[in-house]
Amino acid sequence: MAEAGATSSATQAVLALFGISAAVMALYMATLLYRVVSRITKSASAAREVKSKGSAKSAAAPAAAAAANQQGGAKQGGGARKADLKTLIKQSKAAEKIAATKEDMAAHHALFINTLKGHPDVINAAAWSPNGRLLATACDDMQLRLFDVADVSSQHIKFKWVQAPQAALGVGFGNDGSSLVAALRGIPDVVHLVHYVPHKQGGAITFEPAWQKQAVLGHEQLLEMAVVPGPQSEALGVPQAGGIAVLLSPKKEGRVFGLAAGGSLAEFKPNSFHNHALAVSANGRFICVASFTADVMVWEVQWGRDGYKGTPKVMDLKGHKSQVMSAAFAPDGSKAITASKDGTMRIWNLAVRYQLQEDPKVLLNLPLPLPTGQCFDRMAWGPDGTIAAAVGGFIHFIDNRSGKVLEVLHAHDGRITSMQWSPVLLRVPGADEPAAVLASSSSDRRVRIWRSPASLQ
Ligand SMILES: *[C@@H]1O[C@H](CO)[C@@H](O)[C@H](O)[C@H]1NC(C)=O
Repeated sequence: MAEAGATSSATQAVLALFGISAAVMALYMATLLYRVVSRITKSASAAREVKSKGSAKSAAAPAAAAAANQQGGAKQGGGARKADLKTLIKQSKAAEKIAATKEDMAAHHALFINTLKGHPDVINAAAWSPNGRLLATACDDMQLRLFDVADVSSQHIKFKWVQAPQAALGVGFGNDGSSLVAALRGIPDVVHLVHYVPHKQGGAITFEPAWQKQAVLGHEQLLEMAVVPGPQSEALGVPQAGGIAVLLSPKKEGRVFGLAAGGSLAEFKPNSFHNHALAVSANGRFICVASFTADVMVWEVQWGRDGYKGTPKVMDLKGHKSQVMSAAFAPDGSKAITASKDGTMRIWNLAVRYQLQEDPKVLLNLPLPLPTGQCFDRMAWGPDGTIAAAVGGFIHFIDNRSGKVLEVLHAHDGRITSMQWSPVLLRVPGADEPAAVLASSSSDRRVRIWRSPASLQ
């Protein structure tokens, strides 16, 4: 009797498990459907928004208006769901046309230098080569693109493709300045890290994987990746010191990989409910995470004579009263900026003896120049001292000393997915001196190139 009872309760447990997995599966299918539908309705509402703003100048406006009218007609005629979906798709096409004419608006801004076209899908990241000669992009269309930006203002910028087996989520340059490190989206939602190295074949150059690592964040997705190429080691007398790739999951920990062979060096844990942004200093020394907690942790990647030593947490930026949404290091790693839901942005002096438990001091504490409740999604500190801060499709340029907003740009029609300053100053049209240059990538399938407002003063 007892045995039979045990069997039946085991059976019940199995059945319950099946029930749960069926429920999970149904939930997954429902989210998929939701994503598709919300994508369509989003573009449709964008079309309506543009229409209501009355962009009479735009040649495509009548198309959107016609599409909107048609939708009204379909509703009045008691049209079935099918008809609604059709008009929604039409509207999203009209919205795309309008976006194409908006191109000109951005192009007339004093800070505008160029638009890099040729991406058919969301661009997830962009990166400059260490000498500012090349710009790489990571696109959802499973391609890395390598643009030759020797002249950033050229109307004929050429690019090479590097075909990846999956959607590209992140990209950066490897130790020799011409190899590429890419984060790819595996299935189901894991992240692979691949190092592509150029090979000469006759006259052509092709990129082949030198090493690849599967599921580098375990079962987590990627929030952001930063790649810092390092000097090759012999010069330093440090056998292993080289570049690093730093990857952060949206919910859990981050990891540091060595670029030489793709070895995992360290794991760092923000211990937070949710991570919002990753910042790595240009020399690869400091890492910080803007997260759900008000304190910002800073880790140091340490190298010794015998190679890699460790990545301990060395500082806390304490003072914000609510979650921190974005952060960036000054190019020399001496300062950091953070922006928080508490309505402030703060600039921190990191040049303290943290080995002796000295805490970084706040140099500036200013109200965010945004409507209440809004915060910067990402920030980047330029080589001329100008800080770029993005919210949605807008970029604010901020002076690092006064915190004053120098300029606000409507840079993209979609969410800005990355902002990267060229590590070196570049020649720009109409200026005698080289200037700091910013690249922004977006879900609107464009990369745009801007000059720093400091270059106009
Ligand atoms: C701040 O900006 C000034 C120029 O206004 C620059 O000289 C200085 O180096 C910048 N500081 C940092 C840490 O970027």
